Amino acid sequence: MIEADLSAIVNDINQGWIPANIYSDEGIFELEKERVFGNTWMFLAHESEIPEPGDYVLRRILDDSFIVVRDDTGQVRVLFNMCLHRGMQVCRAEVGNASFFRCPYHAWTYKNTGQLNGVPHHKDAYGGNKGLRKEEMSLLTPPSVDSYNGMIFANLDEDAPSLDEYLGGFKFFLDFYTRQSEAGLEVNGPQRWRIKANWKIGAENFSGDTYHTPHTHQSVVEIQLFREPKASKRKLGALYFSDIGGGTTYHLPPGNFDEKVAYVGYPESVIESMKRTFSPEQRAMISEAGFMPSAATLFPNLSFVHNWPQINEDGLVVPFISIRLWQPISATETEVYSWFAVDKQAPDWYKEASYKAYLMCFGSSGMFEQDDVENWTSITTVAKGQLAKKLKLFNRMGVDKEGELLHEPIKDWPGPGRAFTGFGEYNQRSLLRLWGQYMLGNDPVRAKGFTSTPMSPNRAE
Ligand code: FES
Ligand SMILES: [Fe+2]
Repeated sequence: MIEADLSAIVNDINQGWIPANIYSDEGIFELEKERVFGNTWMFLAHESEIPEPGDYVLRRILDDSFIVVRDDTGQVRVLFNMCLHRGMQVCRAEVGNASFFRCPYHAWTYKNTGQLNGVPHHKDAYGGNKGLRKEEMSLLTPPSVDSYNGMIFANLDEDAPSLDEYLGGFKFFLDFYTRQSEAGLEVNGPQRWRIKANWKIGAENFSGDTYHTPHTHQSVVEIQLFREPKASKRKLGALYFSDIGGGTTYHLPPGNFDEKVAYVGYPESVIESMKRTFSPEQRAMISEAGFMPSAATLFPNLSFVHNWPQINEDGLVVPFISIRLWQPISATETEVYSWFAVDKQAPDWYKEASYKAYLMCFGSSGMFEQDDVENWTSITTVAKGQLAKKLKLFNRMGVDKEGELLHEPIKDWPGPGRAFTGFGEYNQRSLLRLWGQYMLGNDPVRAKGFTSTPMSPNRAE
């Protein structure tokens, strides 16, 4: 990928045109590995996955493997899963509990703090401490590790902005999915599977594609599984974007906070805790403004979904939350990680019903999931073609030919960033603009350039 080509691609994207081969080109993917995934905060795990000392899970940032572990003192650590001796993966099991990790190759053994503890034949092989001081050697860690609402992130960039700075205004929206009570989330999963689709397509879809729901998911609508299926319902919702991510909402029928949250199926105790943990502005987004968050994407590849299907013949509506990671394998393949997330304090009957709602809709057996993936694999396959190199996809919904907005942003939006009602590709454009800035080697978070991200293609960057 030569820089001139890349500038042309980014220029097209900024104008609302997507060169189709960005969804299949291996050269672009190689650059993404370094410039996007090497410089952004990547989600690894939720703390509730490792509740006890010694609990660990293996997670990756593309090709780098990490052990996310709670050490014996209770501290969460992220250890690079590569032996200091000759580079073998120290830990092979995806999940477990261990005080020590023993490398399978020559059995160097590390404490769950990462510190080297045991070396076979230490004296014979190295002359003891004369050749190898164990106390001075520890598994590597990513340059930056931090967490928000129990979500553990790492950044491979030495000079990365802090996680707090990175999340910026998107934290306001993240709380709806991850902080419904003081106790926080518990997650179940992840289910993992691979799809033959480029990672960006799912990320874009979850950031703002309200336009596809009535069509792609027509069968789900027809069987009346879903409470809010109609295009008219989607149109009344908001498309919001703040700093490093954005998403969609539904618009709820009139009512106060309690009534609106009860409408989507939350039990009373969860509603009470939401009232305590959400800020007045967060409550206002639901109560006065009437917007209930649905899908969202935090750049580059972490998405959320919140929906409220009907789970039985009696019409019982129960909401669910899923966290999902689009983990790239290549330009044309993605490993999907899908967690079920629920408030830790919620009643057991609700957790069970919510899990059922999740399984019906998303996850490897979910009806929505299967509909979506059919489109995404098809796009990726066609984007490999020769003629596809000439096609620039039309990413200009919501603006006219001159690039002027067809609708004004919502006035008095209670949250940070901006929001629109109606259909539009404002968020997909914003997400791809961020992608373009990282690809060109600019750090938009450091530059603070994105807070005023224009929504219409022809306005100045
Ligand atoms: S590579 Fe790990 S002990 Fe040799
Ligand atoms: Fe969908």
